[in-house]
Amino acid sequence: MPVLTRQIGPCFAAEVEGVDLTRPLSPDDVAAIHAGMDRYAVLVFHDQPLDDDQQLAFTRSLGDIEHAIGTSLRAPDEYRLPTSFADVSNLDKNNRVFARDDRRRLFALGNRLWHSDSSFKVVPAKYSLLHARVIPSKGGNTEFADMRAAYDALDEEIKAEVADLVCEHSQIFSRQQLGFTDFTDEERERFKPVRQCLLRVHPVTGRKSLYLSSHAGGIVGWPVPEARAFLRDLVEHATQRQFVYSHRWRAGDLVMWDNRQTMHRARPFPAHEPRDMRRTTLKGDGPTVAQAAA
Ligand SMILES: [Fe+2]
Repeated sequence: MPVLTRQIGPCFAAEVEGVDLTRPLSPDDVAAIHAGMDRYAVLVFHDQPLDDDQQLAFTRSLGDIEHAIGTSLRAPDEYRLPTSFADVSNLDKNNRVFARDDRRRLFALGNRLWHSDSSFKVVPAKYSLLHARVIPSKGGNTEFADMRAAYDALDEEIKAEVADLVCEHSQIFSRQQLGFTDFTDEERERFKPVRQCLLRVHPVTGRKSLYLSSHAGGIVGWPVPEARAFLRDLVEHATQRQFVYSHRWRAGDLVMWDNRQTMHRARPFPAHEPRDMRRTTLKGDGPTVAQAAA
């Protein structure tokens, strides 16, 4: 059965049928999935009972993996999963739900702000693949916003303005928005800002998109408050309902998104319930812009 993508209602995302991700994919399947990503930017695969090895094998069949090293506040001896996964669960290494005031949990709440994964890295992520193992009884949706449609809907004047702008991204900026500011010197060094262009062009389709993220806390050459007000306006524009697909999770869903063309955010759920979501990530092709001299 060939891989089939079906657009979800009026949304930009699509569901994929005719593929069993627990098994190796044919080159035709891989090509169809990449073509689906180029077109839709968010693909939903239902009823995929993957284990870690199968999720990794599927991810690797699409490209090179980005490792999650030093991107959270989990110390290396507190990792629950290997670094080939980003652990976006609310669980410690013994599979216990984090206490409400646990610093690792509070830092991870930054995922509730609109963002693009790894925009705080010099080489930001290409695709993210999030697999739902255990989901809470309610809430916990993931919302996606289409940064291509958001770009297309901008005034010509703003399109011209964003064309050459370069932003500074850091996890410190996104956490500041939530009032989380108590970083150690080591963490400030580890999370120091990187530069990303604000306008991206898709290498296959040529479509332009806004490269926004709550990690963006400055624009090179602009005063900080002016930059933040401008970025806030852009995020507000880009996350209007007509640009958003909200995914309601079922255990066994795998959702894959293109971080170059979309933003996403997690929605709240009961804090005492386990939510075991495992993300693998495909590495981007390179920096979006030259970095500042150190
Ligand atoms: Fe994310």
